[in-house]
Amino acid sequence: MRIARAALLRTAAAVTATLTLGAGVSACGQSSSSGSTGSKGGTIGIAMPTKSSERWIADGSNMKKQFEKLGYKADLQYANNDTSQQVNQIQNMITNGDKALVIAAIDGTALSSVLQQAADAKIPVISYDRLILGTKNVDYYATFDNYKVGQLQGGYIVDKLGLKNGKGPFNIELFAGSSDDNNTKYFFNGAYDTLKPYIDSKKLVIKSGQTQLDQVTTMRWDGATAQKRMDDILSANYGSAKVDAVLSPYDGISIGIIASLKNGGYGTKSKPLPIVTGQDAELASVKSIIAGEQTSTIYKDTRKLAQVAVQMVNAELTGGKPEVNDTKQYNNGKKTVPTYLLQPVSVDKSNYESVLVGGGYYKASDLK
Ligand code: GAL
Repeated sequence: MRIARAALLRTAAAVTATLTLGAGVSACGQSSSSGSTGSKGGTIGIAMPTKSSERWIADGSNMKKQFEKLGYKADLQYANNDTSQQVNQIQNMITNGDKALVIAAIDGTALSSVLQQAADAKIPVISYDRLILGTKNVDYYATFDNYKVGQLQGGYIVDKLGLKNGKGPFNIELFAGSSDDNNTKYFFNGAYDTLKPYIDSKKLVIKSGQTQLDQVTTMRWDGATAQKRMDDILSANYGSAKVDAVLSPYDGISIGIIASLKNGGYGTKSKPLPIVTGQDAELASVKSIIAGEQTSTIYKDTRKLAQVAVQMVNAELTGGKPEVNDTKQYNNGKKTVPTYLLQPVSVDKSNYESVLVGGGYYKASDLK
């Protein structure tokens, strides 16, 4: 957190004197030639995947606010998780003369031809949260440390079950995200690598036998799809046996898994809910954590991610150099994309107040 914040403040100070950050992140210092004068302006196209998940709504509105503070206009579009709709939206942004594009791809492999058009029009492209694959026409990548997200999810299960103290065996089931999202394998690998010693020593048992990434993905991160898969797993493998933990990569999936478990009789004194992880600290999941249902989530401050993307765009458009901190990990098949990685934070009942409320992400009254 501290390192990322210090780096961000440095970066922000270099590009603007006017950007005021959201609560929990202090305002940045004075400086800069590229402050608030006429060389800037123009419209920035922001292509977000869906409004069905709160986080993308927050990402989009945080970016819009921050761009507007710097004197840009924002053209913010959501594509209803429909790839061709997203391609059309990006095409319109290019046609309308938008100065730069920030894109959270629905399908990371589906944008090559539209991004060729962007390159032909000399429009810089920032890949937001999810890496755009298979094209050299992506300039920078702003995201959280995705492998670390998985490690935190797996590590939470290891700690909670007491596996390091030799406890077990326990039953676990694994869920992963959408197969067309490049983040999915990072989350899964981070978690799996952390759980693997205990799977190998049989302290963790996966009764369904579904252990490979391609067996456990959840198309479009859909909660109902996850709920159905959990139903099938419970009825096929857990007659009298009990699930002790479920690796879930994302809060929307966790909500589906918990619904299935409750339908299967979990959530009582004699049959408590298993550990269920998550990601994004979405409101419904934080409430579920407070209610003792979902166990944990991974908090990724969308204000900071927005800030990184905005500084990248602003630097690109004002002759500066976007700040990055990883130039090795993220190869998209055509190039290694210079990346700024933020640090994710594990949240559960014990720290949600200090992290989420204390950090100004939610008000205490939001969580009632
Ligand atoms: C991923 C993102 C996660 C989660 C998920 C579903 O790409 O990194 O934080 O939001 O999509 O929306």
